Amino acid sequence: MAKKSILVARAVFPEVLERLGLHFEVESNQADVIWPRDEFIRRLQGKAGVFTTGGERIDAALVAACPDLKICANMAVGYNNFDVPAMTAAGVLATNAPDVLTETTADMGFTLLMATARRVSESEAYLRTGQWSKWCYDMFCGADIHGSTLGILGMGRIGRAVAKRGAHGFGMKVVYHNRSRLTPDLEAEVNAKYVSKQELFKQADHIVLVLPYTAENHHTVGAAEIALMKPTATIVNIGRGGLIDEDALAAALAAGKILGAGLDVFEGEPKVNPALTALKNVVLTPHIGSATVPTRQAMANLAADNLIGYLTQCQAKTPLNSL
Ligand code: DGY
Repeated sequence: MAKKSILVARAVFPEVLERLGLHFEVESNQADVIWPRDEFIRRLQGKAGVFTTGGERIDAALVAACPDLKICANMAVGYNNFDVPAMTAAGVLATNAPDVLTETTADMGFTLLMATARRVSESEAYLRTGQWSKWCYDMFCGADIHGSTLGILGMGRIGRAVAKRGAHGFGMKVVYHNRSRLTPDLEAEVNAKYVSKQELFKQADHIVLVLPYTAENHHTVGAAEIALMKPTATIVNIGRGGLIDEDALAAALAAGKILGAGLDVFEGEPKVNPALTALKNVVLTPHIGSATVPTRQAMANLAADNLIGYLTQCQAKTPLNSL
């Protein structure tokens, strides 16, 4: 029987392409060109599956224009690039890559929290630019992490992994807010207390955003929420850029209304709001939350498993819709 054809939309580990090649005719993109949408749609003609990495918008217009498409496998846990109801209506399976990146992404959340609270980027830049001439008692004083209050907005798998690090590793008091409250068992496991969103912003010394991005929570952190924060507080975003009103955040940071921010995701990424890059009290990283080789390999292999399983045996490991 002739092999089905798939498109791998971005560069990926060669060994994952090799695996896919055992089952499919694979059109790949190892040059990692960002195809304009019309070219992406053109390349999808005759393809039964597509391997996406989170930046490719799959919506009603695209699935209508690609009648052979049966599955879109995202190499990301976040799937805000998918219009899942439109895909379901068109009979296209959507899959993501959960679980395999939980601990790595939680590590990154904590990395940003610590770097922001202890002013690592700002003090390193000071040293590298030759400005350090003497030790001084109040030089780059930051905020304590141990014993402080950690506020987590979004208490899914990654949120709970961040909570464990705070509660068990740093003796932090953990408060959280989530669409639905955790079961008492899960709350006890991560030693976290459920509070309203307002209380979270008031009580926390360090806030971490880990919720999925949807149209409903666009700019869920804006000027009103930031105004509730303590002047010594920090905020970290490892979810999606659209969760924060970046202009409001930059204004608060510039005015010293909060201590700092650590951001791994941005609303217009890879473009970054110049109001943020102009500031010293913000740690900025280029969407590297899951960026370790073993984790990225696991994410890519899970996306490949979904393509292979669904197109050869009608079984995907991590489907987002049922058809
Ligand atoms: C995810 O998996 O959603 C990460 O943000 C990487 O894209």
